[in-house]
Amino acid sequence: MPEQRKSIAQHYHERTKYDPETIALQSQGLEWDKQPVPFKEYKIGSTYDLKPYLKSEPSALRAEHRQWQRLSQLLFYSYSLTAKVPTMTGEPIYLRAAPSAGGLYPAEVYLISRGTPLLPEGLYNYQPQTHSLINFWESEVWQTLQAACFWHPVLDGTQLAIVTTAVFYRSAWRYKARAYRRIFLDTGHLLGNFELACALNDYRPHLIGGFIDDAVNQLLYLDQEQEGTTTVVPLADLLEVNQNLPGSQTALPSATQTQYPQLLDDELLGYCHRATKINADNADLKVTSEPTQLDKYNFPFCLKVPTATTAIDWGTHLEGLANTILKRRSTRAYSGFDLTLDELKALLDFTYQPQHYTDQGLDDPDYFDLNLIETFIAVSGVTGLEEGCYYYAPKAQELRQIRFKNLRRELHYLCLGQELGRDAAAVLFHTADLKTAIARYGDRVYRYLHMDAGHLGQRLNLAAIRLNLGVSGIAGFFDDQVNEVLGIPADEAVLYITTLGRPR
Ligand SMILES: Cc1cc2nc3c(=O)[nH]c(=O)nc-3n(C[C@H](O)[C@H](O)[C@H](O)COP(=O)(O)O)c2cc1C
Repeated sequence: MPEQRKSIAQHYHERTKYDPETIALQSQGLEWDKQPVPFKEYKIGSTYDLKPYLKSEPSALRAEHRQWQRLSQLLFYSYSLTAKVPTMTGEPIYLRAAPSAGGLYPAEVYLISRGTPLLPEGLYNYQPQTHSLINFWESEVWQTLQAACFWHPVLDGTQLAIVTTAVFYRSAWRYKARAYRRIFLDTGHLLGNFELACALNDYRPHLIGGFIDDAVNQLLYLDQEQEGTTTVVPLADLLEVNQNLPGSQTALPSATQTQYPQLLDDELLGYCHRATKINADNADLKVTSEPTQLDKYNFPFCLKVPTATTAIDWGTHLEGLANTILKRRSTRAYSGFDLTLDELKALLDFTYQPQHYTDQGLDDPDYFDLNLIETFIAVSGVTGLEEGCYYYAPKAQELRQIRFKNLRRELHYLCLGQELGRDAAAVLFHTADLKTAIARYGDRVYRYLHMDAGHLGQRLNLAAIRLNLGVSGIAGFFDDQVNEVLGIPADEAVLYITTLGRPR
């Protein structure tokens, strides 16, 4: 029987793999004169300055001030500018609360209001450079949003929604076709911040990945050649009793496209994005296959290390979390010294066991489908843990060894020669079986998988910073070689790497 043609998401993934043979061709010089600006400008609209509300104000207007403060802090802790780095050109680079591959910040954040005492019904764009909202459209929008999200029940009971979009060229300028992966990893990190910044401010974000792309894009007046909606996140106000809403479906499938033209490298990103859209006529697509729930690598003879531990303490009023988000930075170099096993356990606990944090006021976060994502950890220096590669079984809370070997030299190579890979104490890989994932959600799952991997990555980032450890994401790696060297089955596509260690 002839092998079925790969779908567009699989094709995109294959075409954008880094390979030692071709990497030199893929990393041509950057066109500095075409460097994108990571901020959006609106010529018209009224501005709502959010800076005054960052401080506590015991004034007569306390209740209203508090409402503004919650909104201001939510955006501040999610995506505000948190560092200014001087450059040779004299133009500083601003870093944000959420990390971004190459510091290119393709994600934009919009707020849609149904009409609240603070924000009249309309469309707002978050402007990180001034920490303000610009109201660029004042009119009825909520019903259009509801229709575009197939009348998602959470939108019925909420008044505000965040919408994240991606301006493709900001990332593609540097990463070309492979930027599509990084755009969704970045967005996942941002979702991790939203989730926690919401908890700090009594909101509950509900994640929606299944929406009619063109309808939301049009609602926001996006130039669809340049920018596309990535998520819709209604915000339930937990101070309103009737907004304590049950969780609801986060992901809907798109079509699976196996018939597509021959695509040039430059066409891949745009084509993949269009092919993974949900259209009005996809509305009857349903998730059909059930997720596989195999208890992997549970062999009697392999080394198994339980990881259950005490939860990380985020402070009585989560002040430790707020500080951690603001001080988070990607580590630029590791000392090469070991982590302790307790530290590794704590990192895993916060990332994969959110149920251990509900009594600190952190709700179980929404993901698209974590059943599709696997975690492998290459351990080079963790005191009390044999070197090698481990599979992490989140349900059993257990590390299961699949390879015994010091892999530092190999990790250096796999991470494209980045020293972060070599000097990290542990290097964590998120992977997914694309075939299974596509069978469940169509080609759109490619977006979901990368957002979920980025979201997990953000939790790892924050846990590491809280424990005074170093952490950095890595989205550039030799794809197939990771599987070969670490002993990860070839069906598992590598989505993302997080390096962990002691900062130099
Ligand atoms: C998806 C993603 C991929 C990244 N890949 C790399 C990488 O390959 N190498 C690296 O040194 N840093 C990498 N980083 C870290 C970014 O360079 C860093 O987030 C950015 O410079 C902003 O700095 P900050 O994280 O300190 O705010 C990555 C970050 C993200 C979110």
